[in-house]
Amino acid sequence: MPTRLALLISGNGSNLQAVIDAIRMRLLDAEIVIVVSNRKEAYGLQRATKAGIPTHYHPLKPYRDAGKDRAAYDTDLANLIARYQPDWIVLAGWMHILSNAFLQRFPYRVINLHPALPGQFPGVNAIERAYEAFQAGQIKKTGVMVHLVPDEEIDSGPILATRDVQIYRTDALETLEQRIHQVEHQVLIEALHRLIEG
Ligand code: GAR
Repeated sequence: MPTRLALLISGNGSNLQAVIDAIRMRLLDAEIVIVVSNRKEAYGLQRATKAGIPTHYHPLKPYRDAGKDRAAYDTDLANLIARYQPDWIVLAGWMHILSNAFLQRFPYRVINLHPALPGQFPGVNAIERAYEAFQAGQIKKTGVMVHLVPDEEIDSGPILATRDVQIYRTDALETLEQRIHQVEHQVLIEALHRLIEG
């Protein structure tokens, strides 16, 4: 039986596309059973629909407007995802922090991709912050990582895969972003392959 993956996205979905392509090319013995986005306009939703994958839009705003807390949002998200019985939940550019209301439902079953090396630049705009740190002479390289998400700490947890990415003095921010995304697409598939093969 193919491994069942749920992917959570917030934007472009280029990493989602890498997983779709790897499954098509039989590099991964897996099936994406659901894609969830917190943003309606996330291009990744179109990528999923094109690939015949069920999608859900799960926005935070109605919860905020109703005075509900993040745990309520995360509980509904967990209920939605649980219906698809995933083996692994992959945060592929999911830009919300998951609370324990979600994580306790899927202990050691959530993995996250982050465009920086372990312990560096957690949170949003990691590539931009690495680029600025390089310009300021604080770092010589950056990288990407895939890790398990055991708790609420942001972009932190047992490492599944990591890869250095060079920064060059001639790099524009966009050049570095492109280089990092290319590496992410490989490292995410490698990490999933290892998880799936057990
Ligand atoms: C990726 O660079 C991913 O590492 C990052 O969001 C991007 C999503 O790109 N995630 C984080 O920054 C998590 N803190 P994509 O939508 O093209 O896959």
